[in-house]
Amino acid sequence: MTIYINNASQEFHLQNETISYVFRVLEKSKQLEHLYYGKRITHRDSFKHLIEREVRPSCNMFEGDHTSSLEHIKQEYPSYGTTDFRYPAHILVKDDGSYITNFQFESYQTFKGKRELPGMPATYVETEDEAETLVITLRDQHLNVRLLLSYTLYTNRPVLTRHSQFINDSAESYQINQAMSMSLDFPDEQFEMIQLNGAWAREMQIETRRLTKGTQAISSTRGASSHVHNPFLALKRPETTEYSGHVYGFSLVYSGNFLAQVEVDPYHVSRVTVGINPFRFSWKLAPSERFQTPECVMVFSDQGLNGMSQAFHSLYRDRLVRGYWRDQTRPILINNWEATYFDFTEAKVIEIAKTAKELGIELFVLDDGWFGERHDDSSSLGDWFVNHDKLPNGITGLSKKIEALGLKFGLWFEPEMVSRGTKLFTDHPDWIIATPDRTPSHGRNQYVLDFSREEVVDYIFKLMDDIISQSSISYIKWDMNRYITEAYSNALPADQQGELMHRYILGVYQLYQRLIEKYPKILFESCAGGGARFDPGMLYYAPQTWTSDDTDAVERLKIQYGTSLVYPLSAIGSHVSAVPNHQVGRMTSIDTRANVAYFGTFGYELDLTTLTDLEKEKVKAQTTFYKAKRELIRNGYFYRLQSPFIANESAWMVVSKDRREAIVGYYQVLAQPNEGYKRIKLTGLNYDQLYVIEGTDKTYYGDELMHIGIILAEDFTDRADEFWGREHQGDYQSKLFILKAI
Ligand code: DGJ
Repeated sequence: MTIYINNASQEFHLQNETISYVFRVLEKSKQLEHLYYGKRITHRDSFKHLIEREVRPSCNMFEGDHTSSLEHIKQEYPSYGTTDFRYPAHILVKDDGSYITNFQFESYQTFKGKRELPGMPATYVETEDEAETLVITLRDQHLNVRLLLSYTLYTNRPVLTRHSQFINDSAESYQINQAMSMSLDFPDEQFEMIQLNGAWAREMQIETRRLTKGTQAISSTRGASSHVHNPFLALKRPETTEYSGHVYGFSLVYSGNFLAQVEVDPYHVSRVTVGINPFRFSWKLAPSERFQTPECVMVFSDQGLNGMSQAFHSLYRDRLVRGYWRDQTRPILINNWEATYFDFTEAKVIEIAKTAKELGIELFVLDDGWFGERHDDSSSLGDWFVNHDKLPNGITGLSKKIEALGLKFGLWFEPEMVSRGTKLFTDHPDWIIATPDRTPSHGRNQYVLDFSREEVVDYIFKLMDDIISQSSISYIKWDMNRYITEAYSNALPADQQGELMHRYILGVYQLYQRLIEKYPKILFESCAGGGARFDPGMLYYAPQTWTSDDTDAVERLKIQYGTSLVYPLSAIGSHVSAVPNHQVGRMTSIDTRANVAYFGTFGYELDLTTLTDLEKEKVKAQTTFYKAKRELIRNGYFYRLQSPFIANESAWMVVSKDRREAIVGYYQVLAQPNEGYKRIKLTGLNYDQLYVIEGTDKTYYGDELMHIGIILAEDFTDRADEFWGREHQGDYQSKLFILKAI
C-alpha cells in the first residue's frame, strides 16, 4: 500500500490491493479536483489524461477561460457561491454576512498509521503499518482559516476514512454553517442508493432506489442518529447483488444529527456528501480554535454487498470497538424487562436468576425500574438512588446475591434523561434542554438533560459512579428513550445555540469515556428505545447495541438482516422473548426464536420461571449450543444469502475464519402447501473441501454447496416429518444447518 505523490503535477494517489483514490491540485485556482475512486488502478507519473473539460454555458473562475467552472469540475471538498451551484461540503460566514470561501492548496503531510480524533469516536490502528494517512492543508487567504482534509487508507482493507478540520488562524470569529466529513463526485449516476430506514420497533429496513437528478438524502434532525435512517448509505451498480458487483458504502462514525446526500447534476455527476446535518447547525469558530468533523468510513467492494458488509464488519469489530471486550466472546444474558417490566422484587429477580443459572445463562441484567419511585415510565429518571422497597439490599446486595449464584450482574441506566418531580429536576430546572418561554415537550414523560454542559455530565458521572463503585457490576445497558425538542441551552450565548446538538453528543461521548476509563472491564450495551443509536459512534464506547425493542423472531429477520449491511454480529443484541410476542402478538416456536437470536449477542428476555420443562430443556440445549459456537459467530464471516425483504424464505450464514465450519440459518415465514423444490445456495466455503451436515450423513463439496446449494427436498420420503418435524409444521419455521469440514 502506498500514498503516491506526483509532485510535478501535484497529484495524490492512495492505493492498496483493492482500491485507488486519485485527486490533484488545480493549476490556477489551487483547489482540489477529484479524479478517481474505485477498484485499484496502476500508478503512473501523471493522471492528466483523466481530466475532463468541455466548454459549457456556465460561470467561470478566470476571464478568457471557459472551462474554469467549478460546476463542471469534480471536487474534493467544494464550496458554494462562486461557480459551483451544487450543494457544498462547507459554508463559513464572516461577520459581514458574506460566505464565499476559497480554500487553496498549501501543503500536504503523510504519516504511517492513523491519529485519534480528540473527544470523538473513530476507527483506529494497532500498529503503524495497518494504515497510512494523507493530510492536505488548504488555506483561505482572505479569512486566514486553514482547512485540513484527512484521508486514511487501510493497508489490508478496502477502506478509506475521511474527516476534515477547520483552524482559525485569524483574529476574527467566523460562523461555520456547514462542515461535512467528506464530499465525493462520481462521474456518473448509474447507481442505486441503499439506505436503512425505520421507526421504533421497525429499524433497519433496507430500501433501494435508482438515483435520479436532483438531491436524494437521508438524515436525522432528532438529536440522535435515530430509528428513522441509519447514518449509512451505499451506492451500488444496478447489476450488483449480494455476491458480486461494485458497491461503495459510506458510514458516518457519529451518533447525532447527520446528513448523507447524493446530488445528481444535469451532467450525470453524482455528488455524495456525508457529515453533521447542516440543518440548524452552526459553530462559532473563534480565533485560534479548531472545529473537527466526525469521521466518514468509505468502503469499496467489487464483491457485492456481502463484500462491502464484511469490510465494515471486520473494521468495526476489530478497529472501532475498543477495550477488554473487543476480542472476548460475550456472556449469554437474561434481561428482566419483558419478564417483569417495572413490577419486580428482589425475590422475583433472584428466582429468575436462579433459573437462568440452571439453564446455562451467564449474566443477569436488571432493567428499568430499580431506582427512585419508578413504577412506570412517568417518574424518577435522574434520581439514581435505589428503591429499597423493591430491593431491600440495594444494588450492592442484589449484585452480590446474583454473583453468589454464579452469574454476573448488569444494570440499566438512562443517564441523559430526567423526570419531573425528581431531586435533579427540582434542584436544576435549567439543566433540561428547553427553549425559554416555550413549553418543553415531553417524550415518554421525560426531559433531556443538557449534556453540552460539563457540570451536568459531571453530576451524572458522580451518581453513576456511586452506584457502580459500591456494587459488583459487570455490564451496563445505557438507554436513551426520546429525541430532543425545543433545542436550546441555557449555557450557550445566542450566537452559539446552533452548536447545542453537536455539543450534546460530545457530552454523551465524554461520559462514556469517563466511565470506560474508570471501569474498563464493564461491558456496555448501548440502546435507544432499541436501535435509535445503532451507529458506529456508539460502538467506539459500547461494543454491543440493543438492536430493536421488537423481539419477535419474524420481525427480527428483517431488522437483523438490514443491520448486518454495516454492523458485525458481535454488535447485534438479539434475545429470545416470550410468546405471544409482546410487540406483535405472534406465536413462534422457541426453536425459531433462538435460531434467529443466535446471529448476534445472544440472550433471553422473558420470565424463565414460567417455561415448561420441555422449554427449559430446549433453553439448556440452546445455551450449550451458543457457548460452543459463539466464537465462530462473533468472529466468523457473516454472509446474507436470501433476503427476507424479497421472499418468504430467507437465509444467512456465518463461516469460521478457516472456512472449515459454518452455521446456516434458514427461515420460512408462512407455510405453503405443495411447493416447488427449494435449495439454499451457500457462499464463502472452500471449493474442494468436503463438508458434512451435522446430524445427518449428507456430505457436499464446498463447490456443490455454493453452485448447487443444500437441496432441501433431498430424500423426500416423509420429508415433512423428518425435515421440520411434525410438531413444527405451520408458519414461522426455521432450521439451522451446521457444516463441518471432513
Ligand atoms: C427501552 C429499551 O429499548 C428496552 O429494552 C427497555 O430497556 C426499556 N427502554 C426500559 O424502559
